[in-house]
Amino acid sequence: MGLLESLQQLRIQAASELDACDSPDAVERWRIKFLGSKGALKAAMAQLKDVPKADKPAAGKALNETKQTLQKLFNSQSGGQAKTQKASRPIVDVTLPGERPTIGHAHLITQTINEICEIFGRMGFAVAEGPEVEDEWHNFVALNIPTEHPARDPLDNFYIDESTMLRSQTSTIQIRVMEQNEPPIRVVATGRVYRPDTVDATHMFMFNQVEGLYVDEGVTMADLRTCVDQFCKAYFGPETATRFRPHFFPFTEPSAEIDVSCYICHGDGCSLCKQSGWIEIAGCGMVDPNVLEAVGYDSEKYTGFAFGMGIERMLTRKHKIPDIRLLFENDVRFLRQF
Ligand code: DAH
Repeated sequence: MGLLESLQQLRIQAASELDACDSPDAVERWRIKFLGSKGALKAAMAQLKDVPKADKPAAGKALNETKQTLQKLFNSQSGGQAKTQKASRPIVDVTLPGERPTIGHAHLITQTINEICEIFGRMGFAVAEGPEVEDEWHNFVALNIPTEHPARDPLDNFYIDESTMLRSQTSTIQIRVMEQNEPPIRVVATGRVYRPDTVDATHMFMFNQVEGLYVDEGVTMADLRTCVDQFCKAYFGPETATRFRPHFFPFTEPSAEIDVSCYICHGDGCSLCKQSGWIEIAGCGMVDPNVLEAVGYDSEKYTGFAFGMGIERMLTRKHKIPDIRLLFENDVRFLRQF
């Protein structure tokens, strides 16, 4: 077979084999076989030297044409392969609405603090703040808690030195506000407090409280009763009932503990409320005259009420959270629910 015929055969064979290629790898194998440095085209070119001189121009031309044909075939095929690859990529539909980036939100404790301040704000209470590192005067002495009182036991408090400590209650802020302002005073203060309690489902060594204080001429226990009741209805729901139980706190006289009706059984009795129908949420009372005198107020002229509530205690009850530790583990699967 002469060179011209074998070149023609080569073109036919190459075209049909390329047609059968079904992957980029197969096309590459085809390229090596026909166009590679040891490929069929190179082999055909090597035969040129054996062609008689007279036929050389025609053979050279045919070789060139064959080379171009093979090159064109390859280009069209590898371009085609690239196109199929492109087509299989996901198509971006720019008219679809965008995906919202996932951004965080305030922690449930922060949400609750904001909500509580908002409810009391509607009742005319301003928001006050105080330091977490306190002295004994603000944490105990001015609050009518004498030196020998068991609440001052070093084992029940985080002392930093003999007279400095992490505050164990937000009642400290009552003193700070009264020291700096004259009545009338109507404030709520929220913040972290610290007690070396053993951690369990209902106890933490650090938790949040909201403190309330109202001092003016003629403030009575009826004002306290109404204020607490209105707050509990606003926070826990309008069907919530409240009751006061006599109690003792050094800084209030008389003092009471505040119960709200159980949101699970609505007073019938269940395991959450220990069959009583009521859940304790706070302490309160009329500011003790000794406290008013400690900050230089005339206790004959002014009276006041105060209350202190545990924020985690309230929110775990409202949101039916069985374990306070969930609030501090910061597992986003838990936090996302609120
Ligand atoms: N400080 C109290 C506590 O941590 C709570 C409390 C009770 C605050 C009665 C008050 C109050 O202002 O009047 O247990």
